[in-house]
Amino acid sequence: MKVLLTGGAGYIGSHTCVELIEAGFETVIADNFDNSSPKVVDRIERITGTRPKLYTLDVADKAAVDEMFENEHFDAVVHFAGLKAVGESVQIPVRYYRNNIDTTLTLLETMKKYHVNLFVFSSSATVYGVPETVPLTEGMPTWCTNPYGWTKYMNEQILTDAARADEELSVVLLRYFNPIGAHKSGLIGENPNGIPNNLMPYITQVAVGKLPRLGVFGNDYPTPDGTGVRDYIHVVDLAKGHLKALEYAASHKGAEIFNLGTSQGYSVLDIVNTFSRVNGIEIPYDIKDRRPGDIAECYADPKKANEILNWHADLGLEDMCRDSWNWQKNNPQGY
Ligand code: NAD
Ligand code: UD1
Repeated sequence: MKVLLTGGAGYIGSHTCVELIEAGFETVIADNFDNSSPKVVDRIERITGTRPKLYTLDVADKAAVDEMFENEHFDAVVHFAGLKAVGESVQIPVRYYRNNIDTTLTLLETMKKYHVNLFVFSSSATVYGVPETVPLTEGMPTWCTNPYGWTKYMNEQILTDAARADEELSVVLLRYFNPIGAHKSGLIGENPNGIPNNLMPYITQVAVGKLPRLGVFGNDYPTPDGTGVRDYIHVVDLAKGHLKALEYAASHKGAEIFNLGTSQGYSVLDIVNTFSRVNGIEIPYDIKDRRPGDIAECYADPKKANEILNWHADLGLEDMCRDSWNWQKNNPQGY
């Protein structure tokens, strides 16, 4: 199967590219390097021995995307390309809507023209908004609290409507929980621009000496130790979920939603303590105010993906902490 990975040079896309190549898929990356580096392609080649073909383009650029489809004869598209910083999406919402929606529309129109019928989309647990109860199942109500989240919500709606209207089209919407970790080679990993917003890259940058101390956003949540609880998932497990999603899409029509999470919630202090223990590095931290918009607890019920996709997250928190640090210490300045 020949698969287009939009945003394939990014954090999750690069790990998925490696897993797809190793499983025998042919991969093509399309990326504008807005939030990634062309060096990723070299690293994927070093890991797998195969160099994915690269198109440097904006996935919202219809002419460029059309030309790529004309050349390549894809069987499937996995659409990772998108802007993903929640705070930034509040500051510049129109850019987020333009980028994250236009890319999907361009792909859908071009796929229709070239009879490409399999579409896997990177959605997010953010669409559950402020959950009333956990664990989260796919049927629970969705609502968003920021423009980034709304772009995921709207894309889910667009793709569901497109699949309803086109009996050839097969769409899999993957709601990722919190991906952390890195490939065990230490050659690819998460490489945020500027000061990280997310917990694990912040911790690894404290560990490597780029940042002095971690701020823990609130210790008065109704959780066992008062800090926020999330469902952290190893990015390699998450990447493997895309293989299962592609296999599922190839044998089913319509749109289907799957949570990709572990079912296990860990607090901020669980992460800090496990990281310190596994890697032998103290992470100094201060308790700060809650971050606006944060929720107390969020973790998945992944039963649907377990049973229907036959997918399970295998790697544990120690693997995630070890592999995140292995990537950061080998690449203190990123790529
Ligand atoms: P990332 O920023 O590392 O990767 C996204 C890639 O898309 C980057 O390489 C970027 O350059 C590229 N890109 C963005 N807009 C583009 C455009 N118009 N044309 C071409 N390339 C473009 O992010 P990631 O963490 O790998 O996330 C991948 C997807 O998963 C995103 O859609 C994100 O919203 C979603 N997601 C991520 C998380 C997470 O915690 N990382 C959680 C839930 C969902
Ligand atoms: C964030 C996004 C969410 C996105 C998810 C996955 C926000 C409000 N939400 O969620 O939309 O889907 O990432 O990428 O940005 N924490 C600290 N100190 C830090 C950073 C984080 O204590 O420096 C805490 C947070 O309060 C939270 C936990 O660590 O309890 C995880 O935070 P983070 O990694 O940013 O992920 P989410 O908040 O789940």
